[in-house]
Amino acid sequence: MSLAILFSRAQIGVQAPLVTVETHITGGLPRFHIVGLPEAAVKESRERVRSAIINSQFEFPARRITVNLAPADMPKEGGRYDLAIALSILIASQQLKKHDYDQYEFAGELALSGAVRAAGGLVPFAIQSQKAGRTLILPVDNALNVGCVRHLKAYAAKHLLEVCAHFSKEGMLLPEVISSALVGPKQADFDLNDVKGQSQARRALEIAAAGEHSLLMVGPPGTGKTMLAHRLSGILPPMSEEETLEVAAIYSLQGHTVLNKQPWFCRPFRAPHHTASSVALVGGGSPPKPGEISLAHQGVLFLDELPEFQRCVLESLREPLESGVVVISRAAQQAEFPARFQLIAAMNPCPCGHYGNPLGQCHCSVEQIQRYHHRLSGPFLDRIDMRITVAQLPPQILLNNTEIVENSQTVQARVITARTRQYHRQQQSNAHLRHHDLAQYCQLTEVLQHYVVQIVEERRLSARSYHRVLKLARTIADLAACEAIEEAHLAEAFTYQTALMAVDT
Ligand SMILES: Nc1ncnc2c1ncn2[C@@H]1O[C@H](COP(=O)(O)OP(=O)(O)O)[C@@H](O)[C@H]1O
Ligand SMILES: [Mg+2]
Repeated sequence: MSLAILFSRAQIGVQAPLVTVETHITGGLPRFHIVGLPEAAVKESRERVRSAIINSQFEFPARRITVNLAPADMPKEGGRYDLAIALSILIASQQLKKHDYDQYEFAGELALSGAVRAAGGLVPFAIQSQKAGRTLILPVDNALNVGCVRHLKAYAAKHLLEVCAHFSKEGMLLPEVISSALVGPKQADFDLNDVKGQSQARRALEIAAAGEHSLLMVGPPGTGKTMLAHRLSGILPPMSEEETLEVAAIYSLQGHTVLNKQPWFCRPFRAPHHTASSVALVGGGSPPKPGEISLAHQGVLFLDELPEFQRCVLESLREPLESGVVVISRAAQQAEFPARFQLIAAMNPCPCGHYGNPLGQCHCSVEQIQRYHHRLSGPFLDRIDMRITVAQLPPQILLNNTEIVENSQTVQARVITARTRQYHRQQQSNAHLRHHDLAQYCQLTEVLQHYVVQIVEERRLSARSYHRVLKLARTIADLAACEAIEEAHLAEAFTYQTALMAVDT
């Protein structure tokens, strides 16, 4: 046999399409060619493969070797095809005997010595191998990463020789026991019972958590806004296995060591600095890499000091906020990353931070305050479901408050119950209900409809804010275990629309 065909997989966004590695060896002048439009990295793999084969005491065939990575028009990068290329050369040159190679998929970069090196992005690879019913042979350092893929058949290898021995002597590689990576859920780092007073803000945080609503907190410095935001992930429901897998797929693109540190089942919490660029936030580069909004997928994106972010950076969040995905187009390729995150933001009401604060004095001019607020566009703010004012507490409350407040676990239990109601009713969170779903899931009696229309007209609220009020009221009703939305639920929902910043007054 002078032809060998093995399977590997490319990486495009979080997709891992099949790549066939076809190697043909013929007579003629010695030559080693890799075709299939590989990028520079794949060309380098030629040198690594040659050295790895020689250093593993095999013969590198002095004939005409053509390796085709198909399909040719699929962008390929990285060294993940090395192992498949080296093996296919050994098979085509009959240094490895016949075997059911088509039942396997191979991932791994080779060192010049023949050692198998870890590669990034192997979670999407493993998910697809499992679906295809093939056995994955992967670098030993990636074994922990793929532990979240249930029913995956995998072998972990340290060296090219080990893989060869596996096929020539049968079963030399040990089936990796990798399900141990499924630890968790981990306790969140911060507990809600550290926050004194601020019962309204705590309530708002609970509602946001229950319905997956976005939340903007406005208030003077030092009132606990940052503190509250960091406690959101501790009251959110833990991720399902499916959600965990989606998140693991994204984190695996960041490199395998990042993934080993990620606590499974605990929702991601990302807090990018306000100097972050659009690319850092939304993703980009070549090949396209996920940004903060994708790393926050199924979790929380916290933007502290919101007006300090560049306006264009915030504007770039508008589309993914609606669609839950981000598409990154580069000349050569296009990649789609999931980005269904919950946005939490915090800001001061004015540059000095004390506008409207009864316990402080604001020194800002009207122009300064207006300029500050103009950094946020109306359409961007209109995508935030809840806005609350976090007031400064008198010092004696912070110092002497002995009131016992609920811990995160207690609040999380209520959030989980409310979230479960939503999934039973509509298979999604209230925040993600589409406008055309509202008539079905957020029904109001005629009296209540009249009540809502009246308030919307009085306060000249936008159509969007009308829909937001309905969804919020639905969440408040779910927290109260009520089938129908009642007036009290609507009234509370309205309070999260109007608590606003100086600019509106
Ligand atoms: N409600 C509160 N309960 C307990 N500590 C508080 C509270 N508010 C503020 N603090 C203390 O003040 C510090 C600053 O709070 P922070 O969350 O950074 O305020 P902000 O983000 O509103 O400026 C916190 O680290 C905490 O020690
Ligand atoms: Mg802060």
